[in-house]
Amino acid sequence: MRLYKAPLWSLIILFGCYCQLWAAEKPAKAAIASAHPLATQAGHEILRKGGNAFDAAVAVTAVLAVVEPYSSGLGGGGFWLLHRSSDGFQTMLDGRERAPLAAHRDLYLDEQGEVVAQKSIDGALAAGIPGVPAALAHLTENYGKLPLAELLKPAIEIAEKGFAVDDYYRRMASWRLPVLQAHDASAVQFLLQGEVPPVGHLIKQPDLAATLKRLAERGVDGFYRGELAQRLVDGVRSAGGIWTLQDLRDYRVVERRPITGHYQGMRITSAAPPSSGGIAILTILNILQENNYAELSEPQKTHLLVEAMRRAYRDRAEYLGDPDYVQVPVEKLTHPLYGAGLARSIDMQRATPSPKQAERSTAEGQDTTHFSILDREGNRVAATLSINYPFGAGVVVPGTGVLLNDEMDDFSASPGVPNVYGLVGGEANAIEGGKRMLSSMTPTFVEDAHRIAILGTPGGSRIITMVLLGILEMANGRGPEAWVKLPRFHHQYLPDVIQIESDALNDQLISQLTEMGHNFKPLKNRYGNMQAVVWHKSTGQVEAASDPRGVGMAKIE
Ligand code: GLY
Repeated sequence: MRLYKAPLWSLIILFGCYCQLWAAEKPAKAAIASAHPLATQAGHEILRKGGNAFDAAVAVTAVLAVVEPYSSGLGGGGFWLLHRSSDGFQTMLDGRERAPLAAHRDLYLDEQGEVVAQKSIDGALAAGIPGVPAALAHLTENYGKLPLAELLKPAIEIAEKGFAVDDYYRRMASWRLPVLQAHDASAVQFLLQGEVPPVGHLIKQPDLAATLKRLAERGVDGFYRGELAQRLVDGVRSAGGIWTLQDLRDYRVVERRPITGHYQGMRITSAAPPSSGGIAILTILNILQENNYAELSEPQKTHLLVEAMRRAYRDRAEYLGDPDYVQVPVEKLTHPLYGAGLARSIDMQRATPSPKQAERSTAEGQDTTHFSILDREGNRVAATLSINYPFGAGVVVPGTGVLLNDEMDDFSASPGVPNVYGLVGGEANAIEGGKRMLSSMTPTFVEDAHRIAILGTPGGSRIITMVLLGILEMANGRGPEAWVKLPRFHHQYLPDVIQIESDALNDQLISQLTEMGHNFKPLKNRYGNMQAVVWHKSTGQVEAASDPRGVGMAKIE
């Protein structure tokens, strides 16, 4: 009897240990942080139905495409950074828009060779070939567990029944009112009798619901071939665009190896080209590491950070573009020795002036969207999606509900001429038929000995530095609530100013930095809308936070 009992107790103890180990290897709960409560809820609904994080990402993407027409949509593109827990596989789905095949480097120049800025922002000529519908199908077929039709149901329902206008919607629609009014189908879909609708008004999008149903039934071909494709091409061309059926037929999602590197014991996994985000973040972190950033005084820290940003954005303009069209020196730019070389070029007492540049008022960074997902298996998704400027090009293609992006403005229309974010570029990001335009979208994972973080944000050219500041907060031991709230500052080489939120740097620090030769541009509005999830590996606990600047929701369940 005794002989029998002893092994039984051992077995019970062993089983207990195993359970504890198992619990620590998986999150105790799932978490979703997105820019809209309806999207977060839809993602959790899919998880409850047995879907994984990738299924939830499809539902969240589709709902955001319906309820945030000022940020993303079926007519736009994005990057989905994935981590599969079963084998640790990581990839980035590149669903970035491509230039139409008929596009060329002089597309937005007038007869004198000057850039006509509005042509790449408003109207159908500004639209790249969308990637979101293809990415939804790709994600479902290759990584999900549930059928696309099930995953698109929440979005279809909201498109049919409507979502309520809030103050944020009103602000974005007011900003883009003239272009929305100029296109009948846009005015019908997003305005009320030609004006910005009041809070509470329901935005119903029956044409968009029909397009989503077609995608649900026929998959990728439902959007890129057949009747809908014909309607899209006809609508774009009659509004002055240059899309062809071949453009749509040829569109492909590309899986790219994410950019990876280390900073102070943390492993960073981030967006690869055609995003500039991962490379720029690693360049900056390598510079900081070389100069012992964490040990410096506050003015020295801020000075170093700004100088590192300046150099990373200079390289962005010089080297980065679509890797299928240009040789991007990824190894060099992300190598610690390259960072060390850049660090040596920094005078720790003086700002390095950037060249003089023609001024252009820059966008305030309210465009684009991000969501972060962790499921109970430990699968993760960080996705940043865009139609570029709020409400994209402002054109809904009649009979489709599809709002066109104006992502073509992310190309360099002419060397050295700033785009809507004040970013400059050169040959690497010149316009070419079929090419993907350079992006700043930076969906990111950060892993240290105890935590795994999933984060990202919208905000145009400032996306990269927002994610960077979040990573530095994490290195300081702070949690996601702190990262999303953090007051922000930004430098992007050109224009030569530190852009600051009102409370980002105190007066004394500003005057110390001014003495060192830095220039400041206080911003009228706050910027960004960070969505972050953290999994504490040792305890299994999960945290999630949504930026108080937006109307999003972080939910753990
Ligand atoms: N359109 C914003 C970005 O891709 O950077």
